[in-house]
Amino acid sequence: MDTTAATADARVTTRYDSTIDRLPATFRWGTATSAYQIEGAVDADGRTPSIWDTFCRVPGAVDNGDTGDAACDHYRRMPQDVALIRELGLDAYRFSIGWPRVQPGGKGPANPAGIAFYDRLVDELLANDIEPWVTLYHWDLPQELEDAGGWPDRDTAYRFADYAELVYNRLGDRVAHWTTLNEPWCSAMLGYVEGVQAPGRRDFAAGMHAIHHLLLGHGLAVERLRAANNGNPLELGITLNLSTAKPATDSLADLEAARRSDGLGTRIYLDPIWHGRYPEDVLADLAARDVHLPIEDGDLQTISARLDTLGVNYYFSMRSSGVDEDGHDRDGNGHPVGRGVLYGLPQTAMGWEIMPDDFAELLTRIGRDYPGVPVFVTENGAAFRDEPDATGFVADRDRIDYLASHIAAVQQARESGTDIRGYFVWSLLDNFEWAYGYDKRFGIVRVDYATQQRIPKLSAHWYRDTIHRVRGGTAAA
Ligand code: FCB
Repeated sequence: MDTTAATADARVTTRYDSTIDRLPATFRWGTATSAYQIEGAVDADGRTPSIWDTFCRVPGAVDNGDTGDAACDHYRRMPQDVALIRELGLDAYRFSIGWPRVQPGGKGPANPAGIAFYDRLVDELLANDIEPWVTLYHWDLPQELEDAGGWPDRDTAYRFADYAELVYNRLGDRVAHWTTLNEPWCSAMLGYVEGVQAPGRRDFAAGMHAIHHLLLGHGLAVERLRAANNGNPLELGITLNLSTAKPATDSLADLEAARRSDGLGTRIYLDPIWHGRYPEDVLADLAARDVHLPIEDGDLQTISARLDTLGVNYYFSMRSSGVDEDGHDRDGNGHPVGRGVLYGLPQTAMGWEIMPDDFAELLTRIGRDYPGVPVFVTENGAAFRDEPDATGFVADRDRIDYLASHIAAVQQARESGTDIRGYFVWSLLDNFEWAYGYDKRFGIVRVDYATQQRIPKLSAHWYRDTIHRVRGGTAAA
């Protein structure tokens, strides 16, 4: 890492350091990315379109008309990016496999050229002493599967299980850490209910069906990977985006909205996985809208297959209100109102409020209500309006403060009893932030998209030094 610009500044201290320093030396540190957000090369080596390639071409769907066509060109610059991770001194790298790259069209045999990329990536990571953490599905459903019905259709769960096994058979000899799905809430709610992410559908019932089939696909994949395992280390998990769900006031409408938000945000995923049943109150809410989850015999047993880890992604929280701006507690269709309202705290460039205390609270609650497996924070980070100097260096003290406060929250939750073993910062690189395009920069490394030059920000130096210190070294100069 070129430290010239930052060396003088690199020993950044924060008011969270004394808490962070109580993390154990064995704590795992990493960074996360996803395939469509960084790889580019969307036509290379037999890759076919995913729902995101299609969605990006819908006028107005993505800010500035941005697409993942080029992204960070990671597909071609992979060894250089792995070298960056090594220079940061990280234990682990969480990346996702592009489904349409390794299994074009979403069915059939593996595409040798596509899977070869991940083969090389895994080898490169291992050669640099970095643990690969594979996410099988980070939102890039092959377009053909969406055309056949997508996640609201049961068959997609079986297609996912086949794909998962195909990838495992190729990489399972070297990869121990497997995450089935990234943030199924976003796939279902943003993709099928609100339509603000791919595939852009707006159909509440379809979204609810998608939830069940995502969970079914998860459970089937867990079963298939365990069955395919022949003695290599294997740790299976799922990554959920979770937040607190506090009522805006103690009015009955707001308390109910908070209950519903927790039901559809957290419990509809974790209850079936942990306890093999959907929450009664959520099923009743759905029935009141004439929506019924398409549960078949044996599904809940499959979904509750034992896990080895739970991945939690956290960015912000909102309070729940059960009334709209005009004070109505029913919307135009007669459904109860549920909307998020701000606390009035400082925000990131996403408009997300900075709430490390809620993060500690959330992690404490997860450890209490869903105990038994180690938790890993598989994503946490922030976009800010970075201002590079003439050399492209960004002194992102706002991002450092965000990261430090949230890492300290992790330690607070550990001290309250939650078994949290690692933290992955989102993200290694500035990248394609879905419907927000390239404008929102989450990286600890700046990407100059015109040249594809990578320039570590001050936060990258700070992250490296913090990890070094927690491991028992003194901060690197
Ligand atoms: C999460 C996604 C990730 C990234 C961050 C900012 O919801 O998993 O891909 O976009 O948000």
